[in-house]
Amino acid sequence: MAHDLPALPAVDDPDLAVAADRVAVVRSGQALLREITWRVELDERWVVLGPNGAGKTTLINLAAGRSHPTRGTMYVLGERLGRTDLNELRTRVGLSTAALAESIPGDEIVRNVVVTAAWSVVGRWRESYDPADLARAEGLMAQLNVGHLAERTYGTLSEGERKRTQIARALMTDPELLILDEPAAGLDLGGREDLVARLAAVAADPDAPALVVVTHHVEEIPPGFTHALLLRQGEIVAAGVLEETLTADNLSATFGLPLKLSYEDGRFAARAS
Ligand SMILES: Nc1ncnc2c1ncn2[C@@H]1O[C@H](COP(=O)(O)OP(=O)(O)OP(=O)(O)O)[C@@H](O)[C@H]1O
Ligand SMILES: [Mg+2]
Repeated sequence: MAHDLPALPAVDDPDLAVAADRVAVVRSGQALLREITWRVELDERWVVLGPNGAGKTTLINLAAGRSHPTRGTMYVLGERLGRTDLNELRTRVGLSTAALAESIPGDEIVRNVVVTAAWSVVGRWRESYDPADLARAEGLMAQLNVGHLAERTYGTLSEGERKRTQIARALMTDPELLILDEPAAGLDLGGREDLVARLAAVAADPDAPALVVVTHHVEEIPPGFTHALLLRQGEIVAAGVLEETLTADNLSATFGLPLKLSYEDGRFAARAS
């Protein structure tokens, strides 16, 4: 599980989306993350892989400014966690997680789920829509292929339609960093392939925010993603440029079983060896 660190930019480098130096998170006396040193540049697209309980969600909640590290130094979009108003930082990070998705009311129509993102992120409600916000929401719904569902209530959507709505919502604030926790969980094969293609399109857009996508499955890594972080039991197994980091050896060490890894047409696949 050797983890050789290349020369890293300074933790407070303003051009970094995420910068962590020896970060630990301890909850109820248990170390959920240990010695996490990580840099995400604004033009990078990262996948975070690891088994259940590895600490992936804990890590991205830090990166989204939703919680503070117990030890170590962490900057998100140039702001030091622990010294920053997290409410302001949150508007600059688009986040989609299962926990946030559960808080979306089932009787809310899709357009409102998307357009209200900026308000709920800062815990504030407004009476009327800004036309510019509505126009942006329409564009994002079209991009994520939920435009035809704009008037439907969220509770009536399929799992795939919900995931795409959540991503449109996460993009609504025009974030500098977009973090998606298991966006393909619960999708059927067609839904997964559609989502992977849409994320590949976001990854290829030079104006898109820095991207961090959590998954359990290498099959869900969109073409065009540039970096990988492999996590096991709260520690980094390997992190860096995708093709150097995502190897059969590193993946086997991460998931704790011997794995074969293949790569074809920009897509990875893994199975027990
Ligand atoms: N507040 C807490 N107190 C104690 N343990 C916690 C707390 N929150 C999370 N954990 C534990 O920390 C570990 C890491 O949790 P986390 O949700 O970050 O894992 P994960 O990699 O996202 O897993 P999954 O793939 O199942 O989503 C788990 O064992 C979890 O039970
Ligand atoms: Mg998780």
